[in-house]
Amino acid sequence: MTGTTAEPLLRASGVRKRFGGLVAVDGVDLHVDRGEIVGLIGPNGSGKSTMLGCVSRDLPLDGGSIEFEGRSLDRLRASRAARRGIGRTFQNVRVFPELTVRENALLARDWTTVPALGLLRGPEAATRERVAELLETTEMTRLARTPAGNLSGGQKRLLELVMALVARPRLVLLDEAASGVNPTLVQKLRQYVLTMREQERVAFLVVEHNVDFIFGLADRIVVMETGTVLAEGTPAEIRENQEVVDAYLGA
Ligand SMILES: Nc1ncnc2c1ncn2[C@@H]1O[C@H](COP(=O)(O)OP(=O)(O)O)[C@@H](O)[C@H]1O
Ligand SMILES: [Mg+2]
Repeated sequence: MTGTTAEPLLRASGVRKRFGGLVAVDGVDLHVDRGEIVGLIGPNGSGKSTMLGCVSRDLPLDGGSIEFEGRSLDRLRASRAARRGIGRTFQNVRVFPELTVRENALLARDWTTVPALGLLRGPEAATRERVAELLETTEMTRLARTPAGNLSGGQKRLLELVMALVARPRLVLLDEAASGVNPTLVQKLRQYVLTMREQERVAFLVVEHNVDFIFGLADRIVVMETGTVLAEGTPAEIRENQEVVDAYLGA
């Protein structure tokens, strides 16, 4: 993929995050290259969502540092991180149920910088085009006028993916994107992620419990356990790692 000497897109070093007396993330090193799909797996409570929150800057760090495109993200608020090119979805779906699919997606425009088109036709027209294009890519166009509250769990996850992509991020963080999604839609979700990587070289950091989904999607897997990195490797390497099998995959 990328050359070995190239600076990674994202580099997290020694990241620490505490909630009161609990150390949820305890010195995690993690990197994501441009256009790379990295899976983040591990038991419940191992710190995966917290780690995504640290990367997106929704949570302030208690230690360590995060660089994105070679620049420090320390001290940046989440909205600015988004403008720097990081989009995310949440473990619990966050859409406005009474607004339509298109309206929800357009709301994500507040984060956007679509400079070239924006200058010519105004940000709204550019965002509308972007949203239309993403609804097309995810085969959601026919649902554009449907209130988001009427969507299935899987369709809401897809809408969240669209919302995360509106701002043309270079990195998207997906938290349990395939949970509550039926098997057919899981396959499509996988395809859309691969398409966005292919077309726009978007990188993804994906938290997921669906082992078939994540092992079939990720270039590389990072395994967390109690706030630390237990193992890292290709899906094939991770499947054969006895520690990982014992801690997580075995049961
Ligand atoms: N906002 C919070 N306040 C207090 N504790 C939290 C908070 N968020 C997460 N935790 C705790 O931090 C640990 C890691 O949680 P989390 O990152 O959600 O794990 P995972 O996503 O791997 O299941 C858990 O023990 C969880 O209870
Ligand atoms: Mg979680």
